Amino acid sequence: MAEVAANRVVVANVAQLNRAGATEFIRAGLEAITSHGRFAVALAGGNTPRGVYSLIADEFRDALPWQKVFVFFGDERHVPPDHSDSNYRMANESLLSRLPVPSENIFRIEAELPAEEAATRYEQRLRSFFAIQDEEWPRFDLILLGMGNDGHTASLFPGTKALSEDKKWVVANHVERLQTDRITLTFPVLNHAAEVVFLIAGDTKAAVLSQIFRSPDSAQFAIQSVRPLNGRVVWIMDEAAARGI
Ligand code: 6PG
Repeated sequence: MAEVAANRVVVANVAQLNRAGATEFIRAGLEAITSHGRFAVALAGGNTPRGVYSLIADEFRDALPWQKVFVFFGDERHVPPDHSDSNYRMANESLLSRLPVPSENIFRIEAELPAEEAATRYEQRLRSFFAIQDEEWPRFDLILLGMGNDGHTASLFPGTKALSEDKKWVVANHVERLQTDRITLTFPVLNHAAEVVFLIAGDTKAAVLSQIFRSPDSAQFAIQSVRPLNGRVVWIMDEAAARGI
């Protein structure tokens, strides 16, 4: 049974997390399309969201007018789109290739390019879509995010340069611990979203979640800097991840 405290949804297992995530995705999509005729959503990468995306494709195909859905990515690994590490490949296999989302509505990060170039090009595509070329920030209707067991989110890893980026929408971010570059949305973009949903499962996340919810005002972990100025945050967690909160 889902226990909801303010903005926390704790479900028994991953199957229920997938359903809670899919349901919230559709709810946010219907709300956005009803309110302003389109749904601009940034997808999370990693493994956790795969089950959410598969369930959307399996059971919610008829729930949204997909031609009004515009799909972006919160971050990308610095690999080509057919690489096993590619967030685009994961989302395409589990969701996008299985739904009638027009190809022109899918905004892939071109991570086969040099990382800085991919970031610049992605930011320009975002600026064109949101029709913003000045200092304003884009307002995504929904940004899905995960959390690493070091408290990172998107590709905003502890100790990396991107954490302090406050001008650019998208940056290339070198992650020394992983010996790799990433391309990621920056905190100001995340914090201008109408809604952020964290999808977090598994006991490897429990220790960090326990510290986060014990010190909600702390900024110890990168994920704690996701505080939308005028938007809602929903934490969807399974019991394994939430056992310490
Ligand atoms: C990525 C994600 C990253 C991910 C977390 C959790 O590109 O990997 O953006 O932030 O959400 O690392 O990953 P899991 O869902 O695989 O635990």
